[in-house]
Amino acid sequence: MIQAKRTMKATKTMRGSTTSKRLKSSSPRKMAKNKKSLSAKTPSAPKTKTRKILKSCVVITGASSGIGLEFADYYVSTQAEHNCTVVLVSSNRKKLEKTKTLFLNKYPQSSIVIQVLDLSKNSAAQSLIAMCVQKKMHPRVLINNAGIGHIGKFNAMSREELRRLMMLNMNTLTELTYLFLGQMKRREDEGLVINIASTAAFQPMPYFALYAATKAFVLSLTDALAEEYRDENVRFLTVCPGPVRTNFFERAMETSGTTTPTARLIDFFRANKARSPGDVVQSTMRAVKKGTVGMHVDGKFNRILVSLTAWVPYRLRPKLTVKFFKKLMP
Ligand SMILES: NC(=O)c1ccc[n+]([C@@H]2O[C@H](COP(=O)([O-])OP(=O)(O)OC[C@H]3O[C@@H](n4cnc5c(N)ncnc54)[C@H](OP(=O)(O)O)[C@@H]3O)[C@@H](O)[C@H]2O)c1
Repeated sequence: MIQAKRTMKATKTMRGSTTSKRLKSSSPRKMAKNKKSLSAKTPSAPKTKTRKILKSCVVITGASSGIGLEFADYYVSTQAEHNCTVVLVSSNRKKLEKTKTLFLNKYPQSSIVIQVLDLSKNSAAQSLIAMCVQKKMHPRVLINNAGIGHIGKFNAMSREELRRLMMLNMNTLTELTYLFLGQMKRREDEGLVINIASTAAFQPMPYFALYAATKAFVLSLTDALAEEYRDENVRFLTVCPGPVRTNFFERAMETSGTTTPTARLIDFFRANKARSPGDVVQSTMRAVKKGTVGMHVDGKFNRILVSLTAWVPYRLRPKLTVKFFKKLMP
């Protein structure tokens, strides 16, 4: 039943709803422009040949656990409908191979490619796009999900950890967005870029400072691109989840040298009914289906919090969050 629902959703998402919504909302000028560009592109024989041998793909970074794994499940389970290979990316080969085996057992017909890459390395984005080109895969959906955090004092992190966090959360995400956008724009299909930010993006967060700053970057960049490309064939969505039940917080504590607050944080979030990765993916795919462009805050509670934050003067926001984190720190 769930499978059937997902399949229906995916069909609408990948083919019908977004495209038709766009066409409906197009102005006559835009429609004329579309017509012109379509007719200009149709007769080219070599291009048609190239297109035929390209297979569409959905690229998901950080697909080995948490939210990324759930996105992978969504796209693998609905794959038959949109005929896309799903590319799973993470830095851990064992986890990726295990994930692929699990999916192949669950969905034997699925087409999955795993790509082991440390996305905090300089050349990572280039390697990923090169792999797609080499395998003759044309990216139709990019989900920039991989991310890490650091909870604790800023200078408790080593310089290497600081660099890795910024590279992964910002630099590689930006480069991937840039490179995949270039590929998507070369074709007429609908392209989709989903960048995972966080509700941490809406205020400076003492003790979570660098992470919140990187997510503010992701939110600002992606929302700007969403408007810049609104009338073109690539759509941008910035997803802002609040606390989600994944390994994220345990990992975010590793760099602070103590695990005590982790337990407190986890208890806090459990008590406050943190969302599951499945909740985040379902609400995101609903937003995709509705044709949302730009920011999508996951969950009602988070949407209320974000709206309330907008009423708090900017310079008071870090003063409020510092109180929250001080309670949870040893
Ligand atoms: N959990 C939350 O409360 C929450 C809230 C808001 C936003 N988010 C955001 O949601 C996204 C997913 O996080 P999650 O909660 O699902 O955490 P998670 O379970 O820890 O997943 C993080 C993913 O990123 C991958 N990753 C980490 N470092 C990497 C690297 N150097 N190269 C390639 N992949 C790497 C991990 O794979 P490997 O370890 O296998 O490499 C893993 O698949 C992140 O961007 C996070 O900031 C999370």
